Amino acid sequence: MVSMHDWLTAAERDRRAAGLVRRTDDRRHPGPSTLDLASNDYLSLSSDPRLRAAAARAVERYGAGAGASRVVTGTTPCHTELEHALSELTGQPAALVFSSGYTANIGVVTALGSPDTLLITDAHIHASLIDGARLSRSPVAICAHSDLDALARLLRDRTQERAIVVVESIYSVLGDAPDLRRTADLCAKHDAFLVVDEAHGIGVAGNGRGAVHAAGLAAAPHVAVTATLSKSLGSQGGAVLGSPLLREHLVNTARTFIFDTGLAPAAAASAAEACRIVTAEPDRVAEVHRLAAAIAEAAGVPVAPGAVQSIPADSPEQAVAAANRLSEQDILVGCFRPPSVPDGVSRLRLVARAGVDRSRAVHAAHLAAEWSRAASTV
Ligand SMILES: Cc1ncc(COP(=O)(O)O)c(C=O)c1O
Repeated sequence: MVSMHDWLTAAERDRRAAGLVRRTDDRRHPGPSTLDLASNDYLSLSSDPRLRAAAARAVERYGAGAGASRVVTGTTPCHTELEHALSELTGQPAALVFSSGYTANIGVVTALGSPDTLLITDAHIHASLIDGARLSRSPVAICAHSDLDALARLLRDRTQERAIVVVESIYSVLGDAPDLRRTADLCAKHDAFLVVDEAHGIGVAGNGRGAVHAAGLAAAPHVAVTATLSKSLGSQGGAVLGSPLLREHLVNTARTFIFDTGLAPAAAASAAEACRIVTAEPDRVAEVHRLAAAIAEAAGVPVAPGAVQSIPADSPEQAVAAANRLSEQDILVGCFRPPSVPDGVSRLRLVARAGVDRSRAVHAAHLAAEWSRAASTV
């Protein structure tokens, strides 16, 4: 027998030996002079005075917490307003707000899945969707990344009556995007339901209204969207968007909705304010795309469709060394290594964000590209 203490000690030693120790170091929180190309606050709204004011008003009025599940007493007017604002932004008929994007994803996948429903998940989907798939009790088929021929085969050859296809509109590590129109058409042809995680799409793709809206799929009855409020919308929380019938089903069956305390009113109110800003100030979104193109050009990589620009490194060590070297210059970038990279290639992840200094960001992209190559002197 092994005690929990010994097991934890051995696990910690193995992580350290593999160079895979994660930290929650508040010194990595960006200071006023930091060039932050690591966070997902794409539109720089999290510190916007209008979001702060909306949050403060909500705290004054409704208190710091929702106090109970949304289906008990935890739904405030802030939640209802946010659901309307999200519907308006994305063009979706209905929205249901969860306490995070993680719980929204688990909620929708588990509420729609069943042992007689095939769940076809793209090979690069987020951990929250993988966890949802595991909990759903559905048989799962992992489809090669954005491979529409493979998807067509899986849909055609299935033995289950129902099928759900799960993709992201912009993938979080590589920053690439699937052909949503063709994916949705394939789903329609094979009577399948499509769930699109727009965590990195809303606020960035399609003038900020998301890639599903841009593909003309906002009101398609066989498509649902999941979202986080913690990236472009600068707040915290998550949502599922789709038909009123889907919303009603989730309110009654999604365990991460029913058995979870409602989102804090301040987070709901600030996210609703962010939805209005995204529509009213389209230049914020355009600025992200202009900066994304400049970063990609400076780094010598093809420009990715969202804010995330991905720079491959020659090795995991090289990626870590380059990120550390940038950090010494007060520049924060993401650093991804196996096992956190879906294609096994270590990389730096530079995020184009509205409001950051363009010339510093371009300089950082040059350095990132140079320092992530083995020939550079680290
Ligand atoms: C693609 C994707 N889906 C879902 C989530 C989870 O969202 P949240 O942080 O709101 O839980 C994230 C990231 O955090 C993500 O990148």
